[in-house]
Amino acid sequence: MEKFLFLSKFLQSPKTVGSITPSSRFLARAMVNPIDWPATESIAELGAGTGIFTRYLHELKHPGCKVMVFERDDNMRNRLESLYPDLYYHDNAVEIYSAMKKHHINQFDYVISGLPFMNFSQELRDAIMEGVEKSLKPGGMFIAFQYSLQMKKQLEQRFNRLDINFVPINIPPAFVYCCQKA
Ligand SMILES: C[S@@+](CC[C@H](N)C(=O)[O-])C[C@H]1O[C@@H](n2cnc3c(N)ncnc32)[C@H](O)[C@@H]1O
Repeated sequence: MEKFLFLSKFLQSPKTVGSITPSSRFLARAMVNPIDWPATESIAELGAGTGIFTRYLHELKHPGCKVMVFERDDNMRNRLESLYPDLYYHDNAVEIYSAMKKHHINQFDYVISGLPFMNFSQELRDAIMEGVEKSLKPGGMFIAFQYSLQMKKQLEQRFNRLDINFVPINIPPAFVYCCQKA
């Protein structure tokens, strides 16, 4: 069901959705693995899709941790909202900073991203990344997957520290970028 919904959204809007199928559980684990759960007060997830990462965030977070989910597609976002009503929801990731303030969150410990950055214009990429940088606590982490190493240079310029892990069991195989704010 999830795979069918995802594929139908990809066919409607290939550039925005960016992949024909949801990420694997191997990629989802690699995305949430760096999170220090007991110390985490708030997390944002950008581009949640059918929620393979959201499921882990919801399972692993402690009850006081706020999770804010950004998903542009109304059907996919509404579906997640009905599955996980205790999380916060917003449509466009470019509004991360204002949405965070609206929900009285000071700054995020982690921002997890499934956004297909390489399909976006440089202006949109910069606008989203400026919002992410402003919304992260000092020492906070931006964790993103991409299917190539093309974002490496841009992320190195923005963040203090960058580690990249390769996840082969995913369609297609993916790189996980873990970027730490100074
Ligand atoms: C490659 S899919 C990843 C979905 C899911 N995280 C996964 O890994 O299976 C990218 C998702 O980002 C969403 N998206 C694209 N642009 C967005 C934006 N500006 N704000 C919020 N979501 C966006 C798409 O609708 C799509 O669901």
